[in-house]
Amino acid sequence: YLMNSKDLLRKAQQERYAVPAFNIHNLETIQTVVEAAVELRSPVILAATPGTMDFAGRAYIQAIAETAAKLNDIPIVLHLDHHHTYESIEESLKLGTKSVMIDASQKNFEENISITKMVVETAHKYGATVEAELGKLVGQEDDLIIDDCDSAYTDPDLAVEFVERTGVDSLAVAIGTAHGLYKSEPKLDFERLTKIREKVSVPLVLHGASGVPKKDVQKCIELGCTKVNISTELKIPFSSGLREYLINHPEEMDPRKYMKHAKQEMKNVAIEKILMCGSAGKA
Ligand code: 13P
Ligand code: ZN
Ligand code: NA
Repeated sequence: YLMNSKDLLRKAQQERYAVPAFNIHNLETIQTVVEAAVELRSPVILAATPGTMDFAGRAYIQAIAETAAKLNDIPIVLHLDHHHTYESIEESLKLGTKSVMIDASQKNFEENISITKMVVETAHKYGATVEAELGKLVGQEDDLIIDDCDSAYTDPDLAVEFVERTGVDSLAVAIGTAHGLYKSEPKLDFERLTKIREKVSVPLVLHGASGVPKKDVQKCIELGCTKVNISTELKIPFSSGLREYLINHPEEMDPRKYMKHAKQEMKNVAIEKILMCGSAGKA
C-alpha cells in the first residue's frame, strides 16, 4: 500500500502545492500525522532518519507505516530521510520502502554524484524513487551538526549537471534554511530558488522548514518546492504536551493517557502545516 513519491510530487508540481514530509519516530507519531492528513484529505510523507531507524527499528517503522497505508484511503509514503550510506538504504528497499533520500551532500561533488547514482540504479530496480541533496544545510539532523561557515547554497548550474548525471527523482536544495529552529529569522535566497526551478525539472525539496515563517514557506512553494520537510516543530508540541500532562497529573502512570495528550498537541501543529502546504483536499 505504501507508494513511491513520483505521482505524489508530480501532481503537487502541476497544481502548485507541496506534500508535507513529517519526521516520525514511533507508532504514536505516525498515527498522529496520518490522522491529521486523513482529516484534511491530504497526501502525506512519513520521513524516518537513520536515528529513528536505530531507535524504533527499520522493520517496525516499515510495518507500522505499511499498516497506516492499508487502513487509510489517502496516499501515504514512507520515506528515508538523510540516509548517508548505500547499505542502510538497500536494507530498507528490501523491506519494501519505496522512497529514499541519499544525503551525500557532505561529500565533494563527484563523490556525491557517484554514490547518488549507485542508489538511483538500485532503488529504481525496486520501484522506489530517490531524493538527493546538493549544497549543505546548517543545523543538526540526528547527530550531524553543520555550522554556518560550512554551509553552501545550491549552485543552479551544478544542480542541472547533478540531476542529469545521477538520474535522481527529486532534489533537496540549500537556499538558506537550516534544520531546527533559528536564532533570528532566516533569510531565504528566493532568486536562487527561481533559477534552480527554471533550469531543473525534477521536484524540489525544502528541508528545515521548522521556524521558517509561513509566508516564506509558501513563497518557496509558489516558486516550485513540492515537498516540505518538517521535524522540529512537531517534536516540540509532542514533548511539551507530554511534559505538561505529567506535571499536571503527577500520579499518572498509564501511557495510553499521557500519550493521547501528547498526540493531540502534535496533531494540532500537523494540521496547521498541512494547511500551510496547500495539500488539504489533494488526496
Ligand atoms: P526542521 O527540523 O527544521 O523542520 O527540518 C526538518 C528536515 O529537514 C528533515 O529532513
Ligand atoms: Zn532535512
Ligand atoms: Na528549521
